[in-house]
Amino acid sequence: MREVNDIYFVTGNRHKFEEASEIFSRYGLSLNWVNVDVEEIQNDSLIDVIIWKGYEISKILSDKLFIVEDTGLFIKGLNGFPGVYSSYVYKSIGCKGILRLMEGIDDRSAYFLSYGLLYLKDNVFKVFRVKVDGYISYEERGVHGFGFDPIFIPKGSDKTYAEMSLSLKNDFSHRGKLFNRIAKYILSRRLVE
Ligand code: IMP
Repeated sequence: MREVNDIYFVTGNRHKFEEASEIFSRYGLSLNWVNVDVEEIQNDSLIDVIIWKGYEISKILSDKLFIVEDTGLFIKGLNGFPGVYSSYVYKSIGCKGILRLMEGIDDRSAYFLSYGLLYLKDNVFKVFRVKVDGYISYEERGVHGFGFDPIFIPKGSDKTYAEMSLSLKNDFSHRGKLFNRIAKYILSRRLVE
């Protein structure tokens, strides 16, 4: 058995780490933050990207129990854009650019799709997929979180992610649901004590 604090979340994003840690703490699990630089591949499918990342990172973290996550925002009225290009699009045009592209578009439905890969060992891993439906707001709202949080309203709420506390966002969000599932899996398989 490994020690409880032997689970690593590989990400360069502090917000993602804080959200994931909060979910894990609900299960009495702790998470370590590690940032490993791997070459980013551009691919039409998030699942290919995450498997590539998992494989590359396993060469560096070898026997460690680690998690990688990859997410995209898919907007129906923009034919799924930015989707797999979410990271690049956020850096280049941001929330304001998305709102501009959506001017005159009435169908505001969108979803976040997230993949998480839990690397076990020797190229054995488990992939988790979560989709959260919602809407794109008409203006940026809220100050919390990161990325597209000010313009995404998850179904079941009238607040954007950025208007929610971290813990409330976790109750609704793709990452919250993803890490809930990963935590349950880790406990059910007794991967840590
Ligand atoms: P990544 O490649 O998984 O980091 O995600 C791609 C882009 O989606 C990031 O640059 C973020 O801008 C955005 N993103 C991912 N997760 C979230 C989230 O929980 N809220 C808002 N934006 C997010």
